Amino acid sequence: MQLDILYATVSGNAETVARKLEELAKEDGYDTSLNELNFHTVKTFKELRNVAIITSTYGEGDVPEMGLDFWMELKNSNDKLINMKYGLIALGDRSHEVFCGAGKKISKKLQDLDAKKVIENLECDGNTEGSHEWSLKFLTKLKAFGYNKK
Ligand SMILES: Cc1cc2nc3c(=O)[nH]c(=O)nc-3n(C[C@H](O)[C@H](O)[C@H](O)COP(=O)(O)O)c2cc1C
Repeated sequence: MQLDILYATVSGNAETVARKLEELAKEDGYDTSLNELNFHTVKTFKELRNVAIITSTYGEGDVPEMGLDFWMELKNSNDKLINMKYGLIALGDRSHEVFCGAGKKISKKLQDLDAKKVIENLECDGNTEGSHEWSLKFLTKLKAFGYNKK
């Protein structure tokens, strides 16, 4: 099964989490790709089937520069994502007004476009706690969805 992992980071936490998820996915038999969020346009993104997004938040609930072009395009897109299943980890810090705003708004938009959320978003407060457990659960759930489909 193919899993495409996308991340947007400034100081590296989201990339670290994304790389660990990729390692776990490979161990679990997935074929993977790992890219910055801006690697995709909506046109290439909508072809993906199994997606993990890991993003931190900057400014006032903003997507990091590394994912901003993609987000600006996605935000205005009406292209449905009915074949996409996704999981999302949002990194942030509750000392900021809009906690995990980037992850929250990307996830909401994906749901508005009918992508299927296979697991609740993980929101990390000032660290990456819980990301290992979340990754294991996400991979298991994704597989279960895949098998159900067959
Ligand atoms: C200048 C600055 C602005 C930030 N703004 C927010 C914010 O609006 N909301 C939030 O939840 N976290 C905010 N954070 C916290 C980061 O998202 C958090 O530290 C995250 O773990 C960083 O991950 P990264 O290393 O992948 O960029 C901000 C951090 C900095 C340094």
